[in-house]
Amino acid sequence: MTGGVKWSRSHRLYQWNESVKKVHIKSYGCQMNIYDSQRMGDLLGPLGYEVASGPEDADLIILNTCHIREKAAEKVYSELGKLRHLKERHARAGGTPVIAVAGCVAQAEGEEIVRREKSVDLVFGPQAYHRLPALLKAHAASGRPVVETEFPPEDKFEHLTKTVPKRGVTAFLTVQEGCDKFCTFCVVPYTRGSEFSRPAVQIETEARALVAAGVREITLLGQNVNAYHGMGTDGAVWSLARLITHLSRIDGIERLRFTTSHPRDMSDDLIAAHAELPKLMPYLHLPIQAGSDRILKEMNRGHRSEDYLKLIARIRQARPDIALSGDFIVGFPGETEADFEATLAVTREVHYASAFSFKYSPRPGTPAAEMAGQVPDEVKSERLARLQELLGTQQKAFNRFCVGSDMAILLEKPGRHQGQLIGRSPYLQSVYIDAGGHAIGDMVNVTIDAVGSNSLSAHIHP
Ligand code: 5AD
Ligand code: SF4
Repeated sequence: MTGGVKWSRSHRLYQWNESVKKVHIKSYGCQMNIYDSQRMGDLLGPLGYEVASGPEDADLIILNTCHIREKAAEKVYSELGKLRHLKERHARAGGTPVIAVAGCVAQAEGEEIVRREKSVDLVFGPQAYHRLPALLKAHAASGRPVVETEFPPEDKFEHLTKTVPKRGVTAFLTVQEGCDKFCTFCVVPYTRGSEFSRPAVQIETEARALVAAGVREITLLGQNVNAYHGMGTDGAVWSLARLITHLSRIDGIERLRFTTSHPRDMSDDLIAAHAELPKLMPYLHLPIQAGSDRILKEMNRGHRSEDYLKLIARIRQARPDIALSGDFIVGFPGETEADFEATLAVTREVHYASAFSFKYSPRPGTPAAEMAGQVPDEVKSERLARLQELLGTQQKAFNRFCVGSDMAILLEKPGRHQGQLIGRSPYLQSVYIDAGGHAIGDMVNVTIDAVGSNSLSAHIHP
């Protein structure tokens, strides 16, 4: 693409503007996709792209897709149907936007996407997005769809930009990608590939670039982030705890978090880090998925519910105030009422501060999709409602427990009312505050006053 399409209100015409190129990236699914979308934006900046206000305004539209649960591919095809109409309208006006499908649906569907949807110009998987500038060039030269879903041998991260433009106060940073665990319900090992840990020096460079771009809190990302085993700056293999300790020495980083962890990789040094590192926030996302040992075995999780509970006890010993979060799947094949009650029982023991819960969705190509005893949807819905009620009660209890306590809040964005800002507590709760002269990016000491439906309100200490 060499130019941009601009809507001119006065003439109600599309006008071709040679100087402006705009990109609209729509991200679905997990935080890693949000990170990937930002990095795609960083790659496009030097090519002259600015952020479009929406798909109507864009020369390049990227759907960064997710394949983890129900109807993922169908949703993408339906979105592409809408974009086809948009493309036809714009083509008539003289400017045809490029349409790209990225992410895990692109990886899983590949060529099928351009076969089914003629309006698509580019398809590339999560390990190939660093090639976006080259793919755009190849498409411009040939005028034909370009599909890149083979994992190229080069290291994607080596090819991302070393600097980042302005960011908000908080940012994601992928340190580990892929998964070798092969839980029987999950597509991630197939779409994101096998486990890979970035070298610490590369991560440090990116963390420093984020600080220079205004970031004060970094969340380290990985599908199995606590399985991190990258090369350290001293040439030795580092654990996640070692990496976090290293990053916590960077001036300007006020807070560190990491997600998502697997119970099997929750090592002693990582537990100790929660006790020892003030910059590491007291929040841990540690999915158990189900409470029944029989189901956990069928899921190939590699732990029993008792192992998980013992682990939680050790973590709480190291950091008594830690907020725990998790993921749950209800209605896995063969799950009986008694199995499901084991999930409720384990939940009651843990007391989560927040959690995500899903109905099991058969993912094509995964072992569980072929298992006998698929659970009817009504049963899944009913179990999900019961679990979510319990998790909701626990979340409210955790929030109520915080009322009256003092904590440091990092101010992140404007609130709904004049003079109000929204910040995050150490426990990842949203907190509304009358800012009283403080600005986004400030860390303020507050007392929590009240609980809203999904947030807290607080006043700043005089
Ligand atoms: N069905 C339902 N939920 C799933 N998850 C992963 N695969 C599936 C599936 N096939 C959930 C798990 C995982 C979270 C990211 O998504 O709980 O931890
Ligand atoms: Fe999927 Fe299991 Fe790997 Fe998590 S640990 S990404 S649920 S296979």
